[in-house]
Amino acid sequence: MARILITSAIPYINGIKHLGNLVGSQLPADLFARYMRQRGHEVMFICATDEHGTPAELAAAKTGEEVADYCARMHDVQAELARGFRLSFDHFGRSSSQRNHKLTQHFAGKLAENGYIEEVTEKQVYSKADGRFLPDRYIEGTCPNCGYDKARGDQCENCTKQLDPTDLIDPRSAISGSTDLEVRETKHLYLRQSALKDRLDAWIDSKTDWPVLTTSIAKKWLHDGDGLQDRGITRDLHWGVPVRKGEEDWPGMEGKVFYVWFDAPIEYIAATAEWADAHGLDEAAWRRWWREDEGAGDVRYVQFMGKDNVPFHTLSFPATIMGSGEPWKLVDYIKSFNYLNYAGGQFSTSQGRGVFMDQALEILPADYWRWWLLSHAPENSDSEFTWENFQVSVNKDLADVLGNFVSRVTKFCRSKFGEEVPAGGENGPAERALIEELTTRIRAYEGHMEAMEIRKAAGELRAIWVAGNEYLQSAAPWSTFKTDTEAAAAQVRLALNLIRLYAVLSRPFIPDASAALMTAMQTGDDSWPDDVPAALAALPAGHAFTVPDVTFRKIADEERAEWEAKFAGTRG
Ligand code: MF3
Ligand code: ZN
Repeated sequence: MARILITSAIPYINGIKHLGNLVGSQLPADLFARYMRQRGHEVMFICATDEHGTPAELAAAKTGEEVADYCARMHDVQAELARGFRLSFDHFGRSSSQRNHKLTQHFAGKLAENGYIEEVTEKQVYSKADGRFLPDRYIEGTCPNCGYDKARGDQCENCTKQLDPTDLIDPRSAISGSTDLEVRETKHLYLRQSALKDRLDAWIDSKTDWPVLTTSIAKKWLHDGDGLQDRGITRDLHWGVPVRKGEEDWPGMEGKVFYVWFDAPIEYIAATAEWADAHGLDEAAWRRWWREDEGAGDVRYVQFMGKDNVPFHTLSFPATIMGSGEPWKLVDYIKSFNYLNYAGGQFSTSQGRGVFMDQALEILPADYWRWWLLSHAPENSDSEFTWENFQVSVNKDLADVLGNFVSRVTKFCRSKFGEEVPAGGENGPAERALIEELTTRIRAYEGHMEAMEIRKAAGELRAIWVAGNEYLQSAAPWSTFKTDTEAAAAQVRLALNLIRLYAVLSRPFIPDASAALMTAMQTGDDSWPDDVPAALAALPAGHAFTVPDVTFRKIADEERAEWEAKFAGTRG
């Protein structure tokens, strides 16, 4: 039994996530966590909301809530949707937790002690009316390029020109509207990533088993242009982790907070501590996952994320850990994803384009989405959601292949033998051939799941369902029954056992359907089929079952058209 630490990139707090976000980290991480638990490993699966930064402050300003209230509310919304999609986090934390404040300040203190923090004096816009320095996007004015009068200090939304706040004509504070602004000197902290470049480079080089998508992005940041740059890790915001050096004040940094990307990955650790707190456990309980000197030496740590997150996880966060000089666990494997597109364009949170997690669950249960998203995960290239493709997958894979098998077998048995596994007959050549094929396929499925080859795993699972269907079609117990009831009994017995086997194998992908099938087969035996012939005899003659309700329904053409039209525009 191994110990496996799994983290999913933590979703930004502002707004409900779309299906592209979901399939880019949380959902595949859940698949892996479920599989590893099922194989008997000790798993710690962590996610959280990423609550700091300007987007959170701006979103709260828009709804008129205090930012702390806004985050608390949106955290609950996201947690509820995660439950809806059956994401099996051991803990869904919050980057605004006290645990994260303390840990972030601790890391900053250690980095400073070890000489990896540089204090840099910069000129920045100060608003007297607001009594604070203004981040670039909190300054508005007229664009010098196109004359748009609501251009922001970092960029003009109208003509997309990148701007400096000092380029703006008639600049004003986006918070108060005040024009009483002046340029003042202020200090910021920089993480000296450049000083850790060689260690990072050697570490990346040692990861020969990582996906090319992951290492190529890291290498690009390490070597392109002037190489790895130092990174500003402080901001002039109210909402965030106050800049402190461990437990001490940091002179000159009053009123500043850490940059959101500095504290967010530290939340992986903090959320594990939050998990321990929530369960009334001691410090050792979470530290054994994270401190190599306190038991984490044998932990395998796997991260899941979209490709835009890779630089932060291959360089910045490892730099934080290495620079601390303390034996915190570094990631062992990074599984990264391309983008899922939506019907000929991109999913977009700001434009409300695509299907969002809440909307998806209003239309169909989680398993339908889980199956489509995972079997179309954007692993080797971007992939695309279309309603037609969704309809075809659901109707074929889930309804025709898996669902239909279950319903035919259970209904036929009930009508001819009653609601229990029939006795009599024995396996012949056709049954032995099926068992052999399934054995090969199940071993391949295991290999793909271990390797996090999600599409391949889904493909193998589908082939396992298909094999049962094809067997049933050619064995045709409804014909056999007319001439040889014993032989028909053996066929049906095997097929009923296949339903249990499917429930066990399919659980990481479609947990609700799996649970429903286990209930219908009236068994709690969910042991993994290490021995396939034995697994296919787990339900003995005389074992009672019930005919389940429809496992998966089909999507009708009219429904598809209706949803297509409904989601063609943007979310209100
Ligand atoms: N919130 C970021 C995003 O959605 C991900 C943060 S992951 C972590 O892109 F490393 F910061 F935790
Ligand atoms: Zn402009």
